[in-house]
Amino acid sequence: MTGLKRSSLTKPEKTLQLLAAAVFPLCSHHTRRTDKNSTQAFILHLSGDPSSYTATDVIYDGRNSSMKTSLDKMAQDKMKNLSLEDDMLRPEIGEVQGIPVTKPICTIWDQVWNFKARPDDLLIATYAKAGTTWTQEIVDMIQQNGDVEKCRRASTYKRHPFLEWYIPGSSHLAYSGLKLAEAMPSPRTIKTHLPVQLVPPSFWQQNCKIIYVARNAKDNLVSYYHFHRMNKVLPDPGSIEEFTEKFMSGEVLWGSWYDHVKGWWKAKDKHRILYLFYEDMKENPKREIQKILKFLEKDLDDQVLNKIVYNTSFEIMKDNPMTNYTRDFEGIMDHSVSPFMRKGSVGDWKNYFTVALNKKFDEDYRKKMADTSLVFRTEL
Ligand code: PPS
Repeated sequence: MTGLKRSSLTKPEKTLQLLAAAVFPLCSHHTRRTDKNSTQAFILHLSGDPSSYTATDVIYDGRNSSMKTSLDKMAQDKMKNLSLEDDMLRPEIGEVQGIPVTKPICTIWDQVWNFKARPDDLLIATYAKAGTTWTQEIVDMIQQNGDVEKCRRASTYKRHPFLEWYIPGSSHLAYSGLKLAEAMPSPRTIKTHLPVQLVPPSFWQQNCKIIYVARNAKDNLVSYYHFHRMNKVLPDPGSIEEFTEKFMSGEVLWGSWYDHVKGWWKAKDKHRILYLFYEDMKENPKREIQKILKFLEKDLDDQVLNKIVYNTSFEIMKDNPMTNYTRDFEGIMDHSVSPFMRKGSVGDWKNYFTVALNKKFDEDYRKKMADTSLVFRTEL
């Protein structure tokens, strides 16, 4: 039994392959034909890429047209049954210079590192779940002079390439931040969750402006926990206690929150970095938007500014399909488990941290943050 060339496949076999690509976007597909009970059978072998994915054989009887129906049903079952879907999608994690990232990101790391920034690129950098999408929307509204329709031209992740994010394949779920950025005319606004030491050197060489947004560790953790629950390309978070252990030891995607916020805090003294806090944005969005305006050397009248404040509020963004991630990633993000726009508040951690967990977290926090002047607010 050998691997089959795509050109040698029959039409139904090609359909089967395409369907499989849509159902299992992160898996590689290996096809072979065999004789089974004297029937021409077509076997689609879904193997892990990375290798840990559960392997599945789908057998198609070449004389039987029920193939499409059964694969469709299988897809539906997987979408419905989260535990099954988890097994199929949740990827293995790799590392780049000691920082956990998805295996697909590892495979393109050299290209990320050699990314060619342009002098007028704006980079929005954050630890995941710190207020990236919010800041992206504010920045876009500023760049579009408060034109709501222009900001609705595409969803957030298409307007602003997510530099390192990579989902291989040819399905509608495939994504390459690099390719998107390379094809985009200037001026570009690019998103990243990379810690400062992993930012491609060209951003520093070109002296690009960077907006960094930080969020207090406890709310950041709780938001990240729920995001892991609803996003099937992230590892299963386990219980909140288990996830907190991983968060504290930095064994989560994009690494240690503590090193991330501290690393960027230090870098701001040497580079063109505007360092913002989620809590400040919540407390007084207009004031923080004005800081961004100044940093971007833009001037907008008060009416436009108020329009931006309004349209970038949690309530409006939650209902905006271009910002709430409901338009894309169907089958990957399950908003019924936890919506992307979840609570958007400061202090929600109190609903999840027990007294014991809080004590443990605080003790560890003090040690990890003893060497920085960085101070966060965990309530307003
Ligand atoms: S990601 O996936 O890393 O890009 O996520 P990110 O956008 O950084 O963070 C998502 C959290 O930000 C909240 N959010 C907002 N809060 C207040 N106001 C506005 N406009 C807003 N937009 C997004 C979002 O609800 C997530 O936080 P939680 O605590 O989970 O609600």
